[in-house]
Parts: sequence; structure tokens; C-alpha cells
Amino acid sequence: MKKWRLDFRIWHWVHAAVVLGLLGTVFLRKTFLSWRTNSELLSQKLGEMNLEVTTEQAKILAKAVRAPMWEWHILLGYALAALLVWRVLLFFTDSGKRNYQKLKEETLHKKIVKVGYVAIYGILIFMAASGLILHFHEALSLTEEGTHTLKELHEFVYNAVLIFVPLHIIGVIIAETREEKGIISEMIHGGER
Ligand code: HEM
Ligand code: HEM
Repeated sequence: MKKWRLDFRIWHWVHAAVVLGLLGTVFLRKTFLSWRTNSELLSQKLGEMNLEVTTEQAKILAKAVRAPMWEWHILLGYALAALLVWRVLLFFTDSGKRNYQKLKEETLHKKIVKVGYVAIYGILIFMAASGLILHFHEALSLTEEGTHTLKELHEFVYNAVLIFVPLHIIGVIIAETREEKGIISEMIHGGER
């Protein structure tokens, strides 16, 4: 029997791609497609063409340039929400449970790694729920203040995702080169139990 069933492996890699994609959209929003930087650039370039725009108009233009990219944050966001539901269903399979059984027999390091997985699942559930509420705040008649607070929380908790992802990737690479040879390839071919 395989250690990681095919559906679990597909889930892991699609989920990894979606989370990396979400982080990618945030990176673009905060760098190359930042409305602050681009509105200044647009006003300057339009000025050179003798087209004067107000700060407010430049901001509208810069946000319009950013909008098609940010649609991906929402699309990937829906995908993340669906993947988390899928993960709950996977918990009823051997692969889905395998990291969370016989915890008492594990080393302290392994216990920490597994608690880390549970924590990241909790964090991602919060990100998906808060993200969906933010997206539908009007339909949900959320107050402006409530929306603002939730956005700040969504943005704050994002830091935890930003910390988990590189730690996880570096962690499995180190494990692969030391005491857990094959840990990464097993998540590809399934491994043998
Ligand atoms: C792209 C590079 C990545 C590699 C090489 C990788 C590799 C692995 C491996 C080998 C495992 C099994 C480790 C174990 O049993 O303790 C694992 C588990 C896991 N990975 Fe990744 N991963 C990557 C990216 C990600 C990303 C971006 C996420 C997003 C949060 C993620 C989330 C998880 C989670 C939550 C588990 C635990 C699965 C469970 O519940 O048993 N991985 N990963
Ligand atoms: C790994 C998961 C996620 C991460 C790391 C993440 C990260 C972020 C960050 C950092 C921001 C603030 C951007 C800024 O103002 O500079 C943001 C905003 C937002 N996110 Fe997410 N997010 C995630 C999941 C989701 C999901 C699942 C949805 C819903 C479909 C979503 C919808 C939104 C919305 C609507 C905003 C507000 C955008 C605005 O004010 O224009 N996010 N997200």
C-alpha cells in the first residue's frame, strides 16, 4: 500500500501551487503593481505628455492596472477554500491521518512539525474565511469599520503563511538530505508503507 494515496499527493501539490500563487499575487500587489508607486509613475509620464492628472485620478489609473492581476487573488482564494474542504474529506483516509497518529511515539522535533501542520491548517481556514467575507462584505452588509478591521487581521495573519512556507520547504529539503531520505520523492510517487 502507498504511504501517500494519489488523491492526497494531488491535493498536496495543487494546494502548494495555490498557496504559492496567492503569495505571488500579494508580492505583485506590494511591489511592481503597487498603486502608490505606479500612480506617481503614471502622473509623471502623463505630465511629460502634457496630460495633467490629479493624485486621485492617478490612483484610479494605477488601481485599474492592478485589478486584472488581483482577480487571481480571488480566483486562487476560491480554490484554496475548496482545497481546505477537500483536506477535511481526506482526513477520513489513511494518508490524510498518517501524520497525526501515534504522536506519543514521535520525537520532540516531529511533534513540533506536526503541531505546525495543524497550526497552518487553522491559519489557512482563517485566511479563506476572512478572505471570502472581505470579498462579499457588501452582500453580507458588513460595516465599513468591520471590513477594515477584518482586512487588517487578514493582512496580519498572512505573515504566518509567509513564515510557514519557506520554513516547510527548507525543512523537508534538510530532512531529505539527512535522516529522512526520500521524504520529498514519496510525496511524488507515493512511497511504500
Ligand atoms: C514546493 C515545495 C514543497 C515541497 C517540496 C513540499 C514537500 C512536502 C512533504 C515531503 C511533505 C510530507 C512531510 C511530512 O510527512 O512531514 C509535505 C507535507 C505538507 N505540506 Fe508541503 N511541500 C511544498 C510546498 C508546500 C506549500 C507551499 C504548502 C502550503 C501551505 C505545503 C503544505 C503542506 C502541509 C500542510 C503538509 C502536511 C500534510 C499532512 O497533513 O499530512 N507544502 N510537504
Ligand atoms: C494563503 C491565503 C491568503 C493570503 C496569504 C492572503 C493575503 C492577503 C494580503 C496580504 C492582503 C492585503 C493586501 C494589501 O492590502 O496589500 C489580502 C487582501 C485580500 N484578500 Fe487575501 N489572502 C489569502 C487568501 C484569500 C482568500 C481565500 C480570499 C477570498 C477569496 C482572499 C481575498 C482577499 C480580499 C478580498 C482582500 C482585500 C483586497 C482589497 O482591499 O482590495 N484572500 N490578502
